[in-house]
Parts: sequence; structure tokens; C-alpha cells
Amino acid sequence: MQSVSDVAKEWIKSKGGTLLSEEELNKRLAEIDRQASEKAAADYLELKRKVYQRDSLWPSGRKAAFSFERWLPERQPDVSLATTIKKQSTDLFKRLRHEAFNVFLHGSAGVGKTAMTLAILDAFERFTNKTTMFVSAVALREAVMYDFNDNQARAKLERIQKSMLEVDVLVIDDFGSEVGMAGSVRQATERLQQFYMRVADGRYEVDENGRRTKCTIITSNNTRSELGAMYNDKLISRLVTKKPDNVILFVGLEDVRD
Ligand SMILES: Nc1ncnc2c1ncn2[C@@H]1O[C@H](COP(=O)(O)OP(=O)(O)OP(=O)(O)O)[C@@H](O)[C@H]1O
Ligand SMILES: [Mg+2]
Repeated sequence: MQSVSDVAKEWIKSKGGTLLSEEELNKRLAEIDRQASEKAAADYLELKRKVYQRDSLWPSGRKAAFSFERWLPERQPDVSLATTIKKQSTDLFKRLRHEAFNVFLHGSAGVGKTAMTLAILDAFERFTNKTTMFVSAVALREAVMYDFNDNQARAKLERIQKSMLEVDVLVIDDFGSEVGMAGSVRQATERLQQFYMRVADGRYEVDENGRRTKCTIITSNNTRSELGAMYNDKLISRLVTKKPDNVILFVGLEDVRD
């Protein structure tokens, strides 16, 4: 395909040249190409983001949003702990801009795990060119259990799986709730395990320098070992980090739901 500057160059030639020096002309043409590719990259990113939004699965079926600015430590009785958690989350985001790794947010109901995760996604959308996707584990379980005769549901699930494999930053929200409530731990169905295994395996890829390229953020009411009782070890090892630096414990916070 011809670049914009190639077209411009031909046109100028057909006109017998310009009054500019060769050097100045080349500089201007290079600038035209730079602007065109910058605009194209921004448009392409917007298109990709639309697709990942389409394939996201929200708990209530409606897109939710939150931001670091909206996180109010005063909502918690232990203001200083809520402030520390905010700092831990913003620090994690700063690291995630330069390297890819998994993040695990653990804590009981209503303490703000989903809100904080949405704040991280919001920061990625605003300040980086990375793509993000949000998947509610409960909604995903519904989608995976589709009726075998429903071709539309199957096609939708295939699209979701492909996007979950490819997107830069994937949130799996409320992981474990699709299997059982905390305290009543069971094994996930084979079908669900296999679905997650394909996603987890694909997302663990590394580039030519051996560095991970994708980040998966998991929120859960369950501990890592409870999740280990629901899903096989290979899956948990790829999906749920045990590295303390990459875990945010919402322990000691209160349920702030009305
Ligand atoms: N520190 C905070 N400042 C402002 N709003 C908050 C804060 N913590 C939680 N909220 C709000 O409280 C509600 C419950 O929080 P959230 O849904 O994030 O909890 P959760 O830990 O994900 O709970 P669950 O385990 O039940 O999914 C949300 O509407 C969220 O925006
Ligand atoms: Mg939640």
C-alpha cells in the first residue's frame, strides 16, 4: 500500500517540484507519514477497545465504572488501611505500565475489590494504549453452560474466549463465586475448568525476551488455597499469583454496601 508521502511525492514530481530544498521536502513528507500513522494507531486502538467492551461480561449486564479519584478512604472505619490499599493499587498500576504480571485482590464482600479493579482498568484506558476487558466469573459460567443446540450462544462464547486470550489486561471478577460460596468449596465442572485452562495457558505467553506480555487481575472472596480446591493446580498456578508484591489483601476492611 502506498504511504501518504508517496502519493504526495508523486504529485509534487508531476508538478515539476516545489520551491523547497530536497532536505526540507523530505522532512515535511516524513512528518506527514508520522502524523498519519499516529492517527491510524489511535483509530485502531479505539476499534479494538470497542470489541473488548462488546465481549466483556458485566455482573448486572451493564458496564460499570470507577476511578482512583472516587476511592474514598473515609468510607472505611480504618481510614489509614483504606489509604494504604489505594496506594498499593496505584503503585501496582504504575508497575503494570512497564511489565506484565498477574494480580490477586482478595477480601470479603462489599470491601471494594471490584471498585478498585475498575479503577485500575480506567487508568489503563486513560493513560496507556493497552486494551482491557472485564469478565464476571458468574456471568461467564452462565455463558459456558450454554445449551449445546444454541449456535448463537456458542459463537458468542467463542468470541469471548478469543478476546480473553488476546486482551492486554483481563479482569476475572469474583472468581470462585461461580463454583460455591466461601466455606462451601466444591470442584468446578470439567467444562468450566477446560475453558479457563485454555485462557490461562494462552495468557501465560512470553515474548522473545522471555517476558510476560499479558496481565490477568483476579478478584475473589476465596483464598488462593480455596480456589485450589475448586480448580486444578495447573490453572491456579497460571492464573492466581502468590507473589506478595502482586497481591492486595482487603482484609480488615468493612462491607460498605448499604
Ligand atoms: N473506598 C471506597 N470509596 C468509595 N466507594 C466505595 C469504596 N469501597 C467500596 N465502594 C463502593 O461500594 C460498593 C461495593 O464495593 P465493591 O462492589 O467493589 O465490593 P467487592 O469487594 O467487589 O464486593 P463483592 O465481594 O461482594 O463482589 C460499590 O458500589 C463501590 O463502588
Ligand atoms: Mg466484587
